[in-house]
Amino acid sequence: MITITINGKNIKLDEPMSVLKAAGKAGIKIPTLCHHDALETYGGCRLCVVEVERMPKLQNACTLIAADGMVITTESEVISKVRRGILELLLINHPLDCPYCDKAGECELQDLVDKYGPTVGRYTEIKRKVPASHKDEIFVRNMDRCVVCTRCVRMCNKVQGASAIDIIGRGNKSRMEPFSSASFNCEYCGNCLSVCPVGAILSRLYLHSFRPWQIDREEETVCSYCGVGCSVVVQVRDDSIKRVIPRFGLGLNNGLLCSRGRFGYEYINSEERLKEPLIRKNGKLEKSTWSEAIDFTAKKLTEIKNSHGGDAVAGIASPRCTNEDNYVFQKF
Ligand code: SF4
Ligand code: SF4
Ligand code: SF4
Ligand code: FES
Repeated sequence: MITITINGKNIKLDEPMSVLKAAGKAGIKIPTLCHHDALETYGGCRLCVVEVERMPKLQNACTLIAADGMVITTESEVISKVRRGILELLLINHPLDCPYCDKAGECELQDLVDKYGPTVGRYTEIKRKVPASHKDEIFVRNMDRCVVCTRCVRMCNKVQGASAIDIIGRGNKSRMEPFSSASFNCEYCGNCLSVCPVGAILSRLYLHSFRPWQIDREEETVCSYCGVGCSVVVQVRDDSIKRVIPRFGLGLNNGLLCSRGRFGYEYINSEERLKEPLIRKNGKLEKSTWSEAIDFTAKKLTEIKNSHGGDAVAGIASPRCTNEDNYVFQKF
């Protein structure tokens, strides 16, 4: 058993873990930027610095393993000053785009600056400018917003296994780029987008169409595209689906999705979508009711069976159907 003290609270741990994780288990939030629970630890941003008794320098809570007897402080004047300094350095080149940026309202950088400052920038040099990339049909990249946290790269390399992107450039030229440079040469799963803490990678499907706080309601449901059954959260505004997102900790997909599940929702509100069954009458498709269509189908199948035998009837089932549909189908 390991016993540590964080902010005066005694915490007992059954197994070795980082100070960040131990604090989280005790309900103590330490700010982070490069850390994500679904990704391997990186330790690059230093926003998670904490004071540890008998250690002369501030320590990264995400990389420091809790040792028996450690006494840790997560908030102090010195810590706030260091966090403010780190954020000020990030903002030297970060555009102050929040009123225009789609990430505003769910942006981790915005929340951190709101809490720790700075309220005024001291650097007057011209900010670096990286033109937005609209070369991908689904994503837009705003790399002047990239804070080089590498979350997207760790997601793509280690979780998705696609290795389609990396950090390029040095110093203030560093940013994420796909290996193919121009557009992403991958399946557009969008899992890099899920973990980006800022508005550097965004979906073009909802660009400038709503703000996160304008969502009226969220519905947890299951993606109907294939038989895997990933859990998704559908976000709705004015009875129209604005976004489909996965949620870490929800369902067997645990925060991951493929491109169809994440981006393939526009058909739901499509004007061309068939909402009633059609029956061909005198060579022309006409709208009918479900009961009329089912009666018509049953009558035709019975006629075929009676005149040609049961083997004359075949059907195609799909993993897009529900379990109940497929059960009835195999009985049929
Ligand atoms: S990424 Fe965040 S901090 Fe940067 S402009 Fe967008 S909302 Fe503002
Ligand atoms: S969309 Fe998926 S495969 Fe493509 S870069 Fe992002 S995480 Fe990698
Ligand atoms: S694109 Fe986003 S997730 Fe990737 S390194 Fe930049 S800020 Fe981090
Ligand atoms: S969250 Fe610990 S260094 Fe970034």
